[in-house]
Amino acid sequence: MKIIQTENYQDMSNHAANMILDRVKTANNITLGLATGGTPPKKLYDLLVKEYNDRSVSYRHVTSFNLDEYIGLAKENKNSYYYYMYNYFFQYIDIPKEQIYLPDGLHDNPSVACQQYDQSILKNGGIDVQLLGLGENGHIGFNEPGSSFDEKTHIVELADSTREANARFFDDITEVPTKAITMGGISTIMKSKEIIMLVSGENKKEAFSTFLSTDVTNHFPASILKEHPNVTIIVDQDALGEE
Ligand code: GLP
Repeated sequence: MKIIQTENYQDMSNHAANMILDRVKTANNITLGLATGGTPPKKLYDLLVKEYNDRSVSYRHVTSFNLDEYIGLAKENKNSYYYYMYNYFFQYIDIPKEQIYLPDGLHDNPSVACQQYDQSILKNGGIDVQLLGLGENGHIGFNEPGSSFDEKTHIVELADSTREANARFFDDITEVPTKAITMGGISTIMKSKEIIMLVSGENKKEAFSTFLSTDVTNHFPASILKEHPNVTIIVDQDALGEE
């Protein structure tokens, strides 16, 4: 596991953007696992869009699978991850629409949506580079503490602490969905060839310190990354808690 310490959110985002651009530019075909939440976006996607505009990196050979999606939010709801990804990233780049996948949080039968998502990932040959944020309670994607490491894409009941943490994006906590679909769970994420996890901000200090000190346990889902052979963690000073 490689840990890159950066000065701040901007530096962390620059590092991550450079890593992703490097992979996208050198591959003939590449599958990215993309994340939402406050940490990876929006700066990271801004940088990728800027680079796209400045230097004409192409995304025509890229397939993307997003990590997670709330159940029950319309695509045009600004808090749906679909809206986020299109609004901040996909609409600006040349990735073909049919190569973009997000879990379908509006499917009549969310269990079927989960199975279909896994089939699409499998058919595509898995994820090459998976981007992750670290949840305050140690979640990755929406794999909450207690999730089995063996689960595939599945429906989750969001932890109260996750709903509280994400309420900042909504007008009111009552609007935060109680359920979501998350990739993986962790078994699919762990099959990615490379994982990049971003950790930023004082509110992640405790989670990052737990991440470093804990043994692998499903009570702190991100701890499983310690068993992956190719993980880079990019962390900023606020999350490290150092001067
Ligand atoms: C959120 C999202 C994840 C995200 C993680 C960290 O709840 N489901 O995709 O990576 O938790 O989020 P944030 O960066 O906003 O703290």
